[in-house]
Amino acid sequence: MIIAGNWKLNLGPDEAKSLIEQITEATTDEAQNQIIVFPSALAISASLQARDKSNIKIGIQNTHSSASGAFTGENSASVFKSMGGNIVLLGHSERRQLFSENNDSLAAKLTFIESENLEIMFCVGETLEDREAGKVEQILEEQIEPLKALSTLNKNLYVAYEPVWAIGTGKVASPEIVKETHKILRNSLSKKFGPLATSIPLLYGGSVKPENASELSKIDMVDGFLIGGASLKKDSFMGIVENSGL
Ligand code: PGA
Repeated sequence: MIIAGNWKLNLGPDEAKSLIEQITEATTDEAQNQIIVFPSALAISASLQARDKSNIKIGIQNTHSSASGAFTGENSASVFKSMGGNIVLLGHSERRQLFSENNDSLAAKLTFIESENLEIMFCVGETLEDREAGKVEQILEEQIEPLKALSTLNKNLYVAYEPVWAIGTGKVASPEIVKETHKILRNSLSKKFGPLATSIPLLYGGSVKPENASELSKIDMVDGFLIGGASLKKDSFMGIVENSGL
């Protein structure tokens, strides 16, 4: 199981550092290899320092498609890489909905991040409206389209299924929905990208908590979790780590 925490615009440098140190203390070296945290950009430097004593991977929540240039307010994947960062989160529904992220911008970012040899966690997920209209498969197929920009679907890629209606709402998708949708996603990836797609880890995200982690972790094709709210505190983060059998 891969356990990833998306800290969004929460936790300043001192809090991020302290949480990473607490998680490090509570986990084995082996488990740390499966743990990723995505601090907010201004807490990345402190997070990388805290990570010095652990194997936890540090991610960034978005990067620009260029290494440098006149792009006020953006973050560079090249600089992140040079600082010792490991992985970029791309396509989160909040980026798609609030910051106009689209398939073209995602494809450009993917190309650049691949050239930097960073890992990528690519998020997809339907809205409640899409689900009620029976469009889950169609939406997921459209959303994975930018992955065509990658020259190969190698071991650096993770895909996170996060139904928009389950993010931050407390409404976790039922095990049946997670099972069925991960199957749809796996099939869509295989249809588009061939046999290599079968080895891409698929994570579930959306109101994962210690109380539902055990049941969700047992579902076939759930290779990990992407966690928002419950990843901000040591007890709930570790509760998920423990209950998911990591
Ligand atoms: P949540 O967020 O766990 O708070 O629902 C998940 C996410 O946005 O990645």
